Amino acid sequence: MSTVLVTGGTGTLGRALVPLLLADGHDVRVLSRRTAPRVPPGATAYAGDIRTGIGIERAVEGCDVVIHAASNPRRHVMETEVEGTRSVAAAARSAGAHVVYVSIVGVDEHRYFYYRAKRAAEIVLEQSGAAWTVLRATQFFDLIEMFLAAPFFVRTKDMRFQPVDVADVASHLTTLVANPPPGLAPDFGGPEILTITELAETRREVTGRRARLLPVPAVGFLGDFAAGRHLAPGHHDGSGTWRQWLEAGR
Ligand SMILES: NC(=O)c1ccc[n+]([C@@H]2O[C@H](COP(=O)([O-])OP(=O)(O)OC[C@H]3O[C@@H](n4cnc5c(N)ncnc54)[C@H](OP(=O)(O)O)[C@@H]3O)[C@@H](O)[C@H]2O)c1
Repeated sequence: MSTVLVTGGTGTLGRALVPLLLADGHDVRVLSRRTAPRVPPGATAYAGDIRTGIGIERAVEGCDVVIHAASNPRRHVMETEVEGTRSVAAAARSAGAHVVYVSIVGVDEHRYFYYRAKRAAEIVLEQSGAAWTVLRATQFFDLIEMFLAAPFFVRTKDMRFQPVDVADVASHLTTLVANPPPGLAPDFGGPEILTITELAETRREVTGRRARLLPVPAVGFLGDFAAGRHLAPGHHDGSGTWRQWLEAGR
């Protein structure tokens, strides 16, 4: 079994992933900026900040694998993604650890700022000299729920998503930990491609909650969403559906 550090181990994906790694018998470390993060019994918390690099070498030292899922789409986006990945990759290279970076489907052909930061981080990792894997996944159900629960959500005509259950992504990541680094792994997509209107309608049927969708023209990066560049139509990997996720009350 391996020693595995999960950056972003306190986040949406990390909270699903850490228990699976522990169940597989790995020695699991969770990186967090918080002083006393809540981690599952058996995991060890490491304090660190990928953006500043503080605590990263110590957390990575002695690891076989780093699953790099720390990210901040709202603040210090580029620094966190790019400089953070540089810091994680440099520490992994020194430690001889394999870095598995969690990215997003379509980042190599998308104009959305956060996705451009993800692509820049992929390149940093690829050129770092560390053993690497990039896993690009489609949007998590939690993100779709956040979109639809917002006061309004801007949608272009025919905007579609292929959302996936983080539990499925987490389960797939455990297989990548156990195997040699493939470099860019095949995309990982959800089981269905649905329009935002269908997603909102299913949510209304199951939960009674209504979403407010605001039609906008497909200009700028919204054109890339309208064109479906974030979709992986050849990769229906996750098995959990949006309806099942909603019915489970998550
Ligand atoms: N959400 C989606 O739909 C989706 C789809 C495909 C891929 N992804 C990718 O999957 C990864 C995980 O996403 P998520 O939705 O689980 O994210 P999340 O819930 O927002 O969690 C992000 C985590 O990053 C940590 N973090 C943020 N800034 C940090 C810093 N400077 N130093 C150290 N840790 C930091 C936070 O930990 P602390 O607050 O404890 O420090 C938090 O646990 C991301 O790389 C994302 O791009 C997401």
